[in-house]
Amino acid sequence: MTQLSVIRDHGSPESTHPDEELRRLVRGDSVHRTLYTDPSVFEKEMVRVFGGTWTYVAHESQIPKPDDFFTTQLGVRPVIVTRDSRGQVHVLLNRCTHRGSTVCREPSGSAKRFQCPYHAWTFANDGRLESVPWPKGYGSNFSYDAFGLGSVPRVESYRQFIFATFNMELPPLAEHLGPATEYLDAWLDRYPTGNVIVRSSAQKMMYRGNWKLSYDNAADGYHPAFSHRSLLKVAARYGDDRDMQYFAKRPDDGPLYVKYLGNGHTVVDQRPGMREGYWKWIRPFPGMEAFEAVLRKKYGDAEAERFLDMGPGAGLNLNIFPNLLIIGNHLQIIEPVGVDTTALSWYGTTIEGVPEEINTLRMRMQEDFPAFGEPDDLANFEEAQRGMLIPEMEWIDFSRGVGTGCEKTDHLGVVTGPVTHEHHIRGYFQEWSRLMTGATTGWSEDRGNADER
Ligand code: FES
Repeated sequence: MTQLSVIRDHGSPESTHPDEELRRLVRGDSVHRTLYTDPSVFEKEMVRVFGGTWTYVAHESQIPKPDDFFTTQLGVRPVIVTRDSRGQVHVLLNRCTHRGSTVCREPSGSAKRFQCPYHAWTFANDGRLESVPWPKGYGSNFSYDAFGLGSVPRVESYRQFIFATFNMELPPLAEHLGPATEYLDAWLDRYPTGNVIVRSSAQKMMYRGNWKLSYDNAADGYHPAFSHRSLLKVAARYGDDRDMQYFAKRPDDGPLYVKYLGNGHTVVDQRPGMREGYWKWIRPFPGMEAFEAVLRKKYGDAEAERFLDMGPGAGLNLNIFPNLLIIGNHLQIIEPVGVDTTALSWYGTTIEGVPEEINTLRMRMQEDFPAFGEPDDLANFEEAQRGMLIPEMEWIDFSRGVGTGCEKTDHLGVVTGPVTHEHHIRGYFQEWSRLMTGATTGWSEDRGNADER
């Protein structure tokens, strides 16, 4: 379609950093501050990273029926994720082929067609241009086929998580997710149907900082003891063996770990720290005793405990590069706005095959971290962005773990290390460098950064 060729021809804006220079700005154990502050780097990321690799766009439960749609963004591109009348999923560029206006301005709904509000060109929900007002004005050579909405050429789902990419060279989605599928499967297989439902609208947040500050933090087991001190202090009043408490107590001596899973994906696995199951391990929250009492009365102790264990998150922070963070029961989506502005959308999830009380319980728990923990992170992101503006201090460090011999790389290239180490950040910047420049920096966890020193 016309729109795709426009993107391919003009999709790689000239950066003030040519590729070779960009490659030098990723050292392996540190990156240059301009990766977070330079608008030309951001512009290039929006083409080469967001949409240049498989990028999450929506969950199938957000468009369950034919003709359903959901609007979101792919990098900074507004897109409409549609399920057409035959059930096929499309990711359409929300950009009229007449003069560029968005054609759909609703967050979600059901529609067989989208009519641009500006001059009423009308498109089917598979992107075809169906009609224009007073067509005689375009003469006999006007081609409806040439003016369909642009669409992202590759769209695939893994267990109802929909991803899209412009990159025709990438392997199929499941292969790209690779070892991350083991953790996504574990997150879903706890539930009776093996699926979650994303039904609610998102809890939205915005911070004045680069999108990578969120991704850096997503598997960071180093910060909770300090950044979330107040949250841990409150929880400690109810005992010292609850969710996140272990981060404050010599966490690297415990059983938790962080992994770099390849292709930019990372995970913190907290499950080895859960000695008594999910329900007994969570932090207290208002009303939990009442929920538990109702369920025990209705279903008996054993059945109630089985259901209650489906309330809390799975003890995984799974991060699918570049924008999908699975945290507890949430999906958190990173939505870049500008080089120093990022939106975060937190979607709660419900499950089927359990008493309604469990989903109410999940919603109550899903209010916890975004309200009491995430503001700590956003304050740090904003202050990091401010600090990175100092031109004389050029490098951002993530060398924790280098030279300790504590990280192990397996035959798939998965790197496992202590939960406060930063090998996952070193790993994802290798993928970032590969996408942005066509080459990695040559960094290897086994060799350390011997090439660079
Ligand atoms: Fe859409 Fe004119 S901009 S019809």
